[in-house]
Parts: sequence; C-alpha cells; structure tokens
Amino acid sequence: MKIFVTGGAGFIGSHTCVELLNAGYEVVIADNLSNAKPEAVENIQKISGKPVVFYKTDLRDLEGMRKIFTEHDIDAVIHFAGLKAVPESVQKPLEYYENNLGGTFVLCQAMREAGCRKIVFSSSATVYGMHNPVPFKEGMPTSATNPYGYTKVMIEQILTDLALADPQWSVSLLRYFNPIGAHSSGLIGEDPNGIPNNLLPYVSQVAAGLRPEVVVYGNDYDTPDGTGVRDYIHVVDLALGHLSAVKYVLEHTGVEAVNLGTGQGTSVLEIVAAYSKACGKELPYRIAPRRPGDIATCYADTEKARRLFGWEAKRNIEQMCADSWNFAKNRYIK
Ligand code: WQD
Repeated sequence: MKIFVTGGAGFIGSHTCVELLNAGYEVVIADNLSNAKPEAVENIQKISGKPVVFYKTDLRDLEGMRKIFTEHDIDAVIHFAGLKAVPESVQKPLEYYENNLGGTFVLCQAMREAGCRKIVFSSSATVYGMHNPVPFKEGMPTSATNPYGYTKVMIEQILTDLALADPQWSVSLLRYFNPIGAHSSGLIGEDPNGIPNNLLPYVSQVAAGLRPEVVVYGNDYDTPDGTGVRDYIHVVDLALGHLSAVKYVLEHTGVEAVNLGTGQGTSVLEIVAAYSKACGKELPYRIAPRRPGDIATCYADTEKARRLFGWEAKRNIEQMCADSWNFAKNRYIK
C-alpha cells in the first residue's frame, strides 16, 4: 500500500511518515519546504530504516501533482500541507485562503483524475470556535476566529460536499488538539521558523537558553490557576491516530470528523512546571495580557476515535516534555 503525504516534512507529517513506514506502508512525500527543513526527509529514513520518495513541490502546481499520481499508484492521501500561523493569517488572509484552499482544490483534482478518492485531512480543534462547551464533540457546530481557522472550516466543508456528491470518496477529518513532544530519537521535532507562536516550541527555546523567559498570555481566565487550559497530545500518539485513520478510509467510504486528543486539560503554568522538571531547571516566566482570540479552556471528547478507530492517546505530559526537551537539546545546544 502506497500513501501520498502532502507536507510530510513538517512537524506532524514527519512523525506520521515514520509510523506509516514502521507499519509497512510505502510513502511518497510532497513538501515545498516553506516551513520544514530538507533534513527532516533524511531523518524519517534514518529513524525508520526505509526509503521514501520525496518531491519538492507546491501543491498548487497541478502538473507537479499529476506527475506524482502518474509515477505512483497512490492508495490514499494524508493532506498536511498548508500555512498554519494564526497571527500571520490575520495579517495575510489572501495568502492563507489562496494557499490552503487553492492547494486543496488542485490536490483533489489530481486525485480524482487518478481515481484516488481516499483522503485523511489535517484539521484542527480550532474549528470548534469560541462558543461550544467543553469537552468538544464532533457533532458540534464549527466556526473560526481567524483566517487560518476558517481555512480549516472551509476545507472540511469542501471535502464533506465532495463525499456527498460522489459516494466513492472516503474522507477522514482529523481535528487535532495541541500536538507537542517529539520522536524519542531526538532527530525530528517541532522546529518552527522565526519566533514560535505556540507555547511548547517557545518554552523549549527558553529551556535551551535562546530566549530569556516564557511569556504567559493572561492569568485571569476562569481556570484553576487562571492560565489557559489545553489538551496537549504527544505527536507520536497523533501520528498513530493517522495510521488508524488511513486504515479506516481504505476500508470505508463516506466522511467522518474525528477528534485526536487526550481528553485531559493542562494549564500554561502546569506546562512550565512540567518542562522545568524535564529540563532540570526552573524556567522563568512573566504574566502578560491575554492574546486576542484565545479561549480559556479547550479539550476533546475522545469517544468517537476509540469507537471508530480503536485508537486512544497513551503518552502523558511528562513524556511529552521529556521528548520535547530531548529534541531541543539536539537542535539548539551544540
Ligand atoms: C496554548 C496556550 C496560549 C504561547 C494553536 C492553533 C491551533 C493549533 C495549535 C495548528 C494558550 C498560551 C502560548 C506563549 C502562552 N495549530 N501561550 N505563551 O492557541 O491553543 O492553538 O496551536 O493547527 O489551530 O490555534 O496553541 O500553543 O499557541 O497556545 O501563554 O508564548 O498557551 O494563550 O492558552 P493554541 P498555543
């Protein structure tokens, strides 16, 4: 079985490729490397001991996509490729809609021409918006508070309508909560370009001495310690969830939205404490005003993933911080 992974050199994509290879699938990757490094492809092969086929190409290049489907008999697609920085999407909405939606249109056209109608889409818990009660459940209404979030809502709708129009399609919409951590080898992990928007890469850079302190966005939320609560999930658990989703789409048709989370909430200050323990030093932090668009609490209802995929997350916060720190040491401390 051969799986085409768009954005396969990225944080979640690279971890998923490792688990696909470990499970015996062949893997073809397309990535424009706009937010990933070429050595990620080498490291995927080093960790798994197996070869991958890599195309440095942009999803919006229809001829490039057609070439991949001509050169390979693809059984299913996992679609990670897309811009994902919330603040940047507010500054550059046109680029976000053009890139994320345009790339998906081209991908689906190339898939349909090749007769490949099995897709796992990298969606996000961000589609639950600001007004749903926790724990977030798949049947809840979706919305967004920024262009990045709206691209996820819209692509879910596009793929849903595609599956309704042509029942041969099999679509799995995976709604990730907060992926963190790294493969135990320390060879692949979260390594964003520029100043990290997300908490864990920022904390890991403070721990590595690249930044002076953690900036905690608000401690006046209605949460146990006043700081934001999120459902952090180990990226390897998330990768294994994609393996379950690929098996599911290969054996079924129709469209299913599925949460990939732990169902547990952890606050920012709890993360700072856990990371301090993992790296063996008290990490400095300061309280700053809330970040616009943030919600107080976000965590998953995990029943559907267990029922449909037979999957659940197994790694805890301590393991996530230990693996994240192991990668950060390799990446930043020479
Ligand atoms: C987590 C918590 C912040 C940074 C976003 C996207 C989501 C997904 C994951 C792509 C919040 C606080 C953060 C910092 C802080 N991305 N924080 N200081 O916002 O839950 O989700 O990333 O799919 O779609 O929306 O993740 O890591 O940015 O924030 O205090 O320097 O940490 O306020 O409470 P978020 P995050």
